[in-house]
Amino acid sequence: MSIIRPEKIIYGVEDMEAGVRYFEDWGLELVESGETGADFKTAENQHVVLRKKSDPDLPPVPNDGPTAHEVIWGVTDADDLERFGSALSTDRDVRIDDDGSVHSIDESGFAIGFMVAERTPVELPAVDMNYHTNITRLNTPVMPDARVKPVRMGHVVYGIKRADAERASAFYMDRLGFKLTDRCQDMGDFMRVPGLTDHHSLFLSFRADVAAFNHIAFEVDNLDAVMMGGTYMNSQGWETASGPGRHYHGSNVFWYTHNPSGGSTEYFSDMDRMDDDWESRIFEQGQGYASWVIGGKRLIQKPA
Ligand SMILES: [Fe+2]
Repeated sequence: MSIIRPEKIIYGVEDMEAGVRYFEDWGLELVESGETGADFKTAENQHVVLRKKSDPDLPPVPNDGPTAHEVIWGVTDADDLERFGSALSTDRDVRIDDDGSVHSIDESGFAIGFMVAERTPVELPAVDMNYHTNITRLNTPVMPDARVKPVRMGHVVYGIKRADAERASAFYMDRLGFKLTDRCQDMGDFMRVPGLTDHHSLFLSFRADVAAFNHIAFEVDNLDAVMMGGTYMNSQGWETASGPGRHYHGSNVFWYTHNPSGGSTEYFSDMDRMDDDWESRIFEQGQGYASWVIGGKRLIQKPA
């Protein structure tokens, strides 16, 4: 009984043609597209939904322009939906749709939803690497695929107003059961949902002056896949926002590109994993953005 993973993200899009082409290039599977928008999915069946920015059914957001309008978290079962719905209705509006999904708003004004997770199990080959006498790839040349296929959506990042930080994070931890992995007073709070061991499934970045959606991240096989994916995106004309590199917090290798539908998207691999034995770390000053980074800028919001 808890949140399992990010399940669906809904964008309000100004350039639908670019929006669809971007996520096709990104490697997601197109489920359907038409007059009103498009629906993509990861291998594990998490959905990226594009809707016209003018769609009156989109939840409001605190900022203009193309951006994510709602993040919906996957939960274990219908009991969770009822529990979250009634808990949130004590101090904010809650909408329940015909499919049972629950929708409300967080402390920063971002729409948040909950639905029962519909995970498709995925069989993945072992990740092999030869090092000195540790040989797991014998008589097998490395042949990375030219196109990557993200296995899953791993985390979501918002920029939030520093003044609101404590309240914003407490909402996710105290009301929704997120667990604190690392708190960096100068950067933000890295939190994980109970259903995943990823270092973070949500990062609230304290560095922004205004509340704004920042990025979603998709897991791919390994460093090669991050490099192949980012290189392919560049070859199709999509601009690097940051990367390739390796973050300090989470240790994930990354490559971000600017998303015409809002913020950026990140290919990531080899992230730190934490279970309940992990003790939250509190840093007055975080360890920094990245242990190494090659391209783009450190800031991953596209300048206006
Ligand atoms: Fe990220």
